[in-house]
Amino acid sequence: MKAVVCSNFGNIDDLKISTMPIKDLGPNDVRIEVKAASLNFMDPLMVQGLYQVKPNLPFVPGACGAGEVIETGTAVIDIAPGNRVSWIGYTGAFAEQAVVNRSTVTKLPDYIDWQQGACWQLSFSPAYISLVHSAGIKPGETLLVNGAAGGVGLAAVKLGKFLGAKVIGAVGSAAKIAAVKSAGAEEVIDYSQPDFKDRVLACTDSQGADVVLDTVGGDLLEQCLRCTNSLGRIITVGYTSGVIPKIPANLLLLKNLTVTGMFAGSLMAKHPRLVRQLNSDLLAKMADQSLRDRIDSVLPLDSVVQGMRQLLAREVIGKLVFSV
Ligand SMILES: NC(=O)c1ccc[n+]([C@@H]2O[C@H](COP(=O)([O-])OP(=O)(O)OC[C@H]3O[C@@H](n4cnc5c(N)ncnc54)[C@H](OP(=O)(O)O)[C@@H]3O)[C@@H](O)[C@H]2O)c1
Repeated sequence: MKAVVCSNFGNIDDLKISTMPIKDLGPNDVRIEVKAASLNFMDPLMVQGLYQVKPNLPFVPGACGAGEVIETGTAVIDIAPGNRVSWIGYTGAFAEQAVVNRSTVTKLPDYIDWQQGACWQLSFSPAYISLVHSAGIKPGETLLVNGAAGGVGLAAVKLGKFLGAKVIGAVGSAAKIAAVKSAGAEEVIDYSQPDFKDRVLACTDSQGADVVLDTVGGDLLEQCLRCTNSLGRIITVGYTSGVIPKIPANLLLLKNLTVTGMFAGSLMAKHPRLVRQLNSDLLAKMADQSLRDRIDSVLPLDSVVQGMRQLLAREVIGKLVFSV
């Protein structure tokens, strides 16, 4: 089968399209004909050897995809050939076929197409888990989303609005403001400017945001501690700035703040039923057409290096998808 292959950690330019052997199917596995795969922040990191998980070489990158089931292992009883599914893992999606464990597979409702199916588990799902499970967001609260033009960020903006919050988006350049506004943010702040904290306070009657979803980390997260409301909840989801922030505990004490980490990978491993329930609630809500990823562009699989370059250069708004 045709696949993108990483033979050594380092430069994304070394990725090649090659023919890989068809994998054997274990009893709990599902073989999927891949229709679409999303590009995610972790994919180039994995190729560069910078991600916390290092697969054995050579490997096929790609964490998330959607496709049609073509074969199931002997122990799989609730998925059948012909089913439309999505799945999430660490590797293997940038290929014509994927063999994945049943536990990572979700049946797709008819109203989710292949491109959306390839995206939601690393965009809407982490955003939903963060807002609903981690933050317990309530209608009328103010939600601040950092990295608001990214995959997780734009999903959080749309979900926040859907759940009745007032949404403030925060982005790193003026070029991304319009997309975040059209996703439903009432205010959008450019965090490359020095007055970030004051702008958040100005948008919230000097109270600060009730909930902060942060995918950027670094200095921005510490600034958020200074513009979060009393009893506020800050959800730390990622560190695209490349800097893991250190949190001054006194700021938590003074305003009775909660900072919660949300990592879908370990939540799924340790609490699979909880994640399945949250994802099932989310997919039901996604019957509403407003809850869709913004597809920035659709590229063929052999443009994987170009796609990764665009993502690393912060040029993607929403999700980039590979059509397989
Ligand atoms: N915890 C979890 O379960 C989970 C699940 C999914 C994703 N994540 C993580 O969440 C983060 C965001 O994921 P995503 O899919 O939303 O990524 P994305 O679509 O690439 O968006 C990331 C955003 O980060 C901002 N950014 C700031 N500094 C950056 C830099 N130096 N390089 C690149 N982008 C930078 C960019 O916005 P501006 O240009 O506007 O600053 C960009 O829009 C990643 O770290 C990812 O690994 C975590």
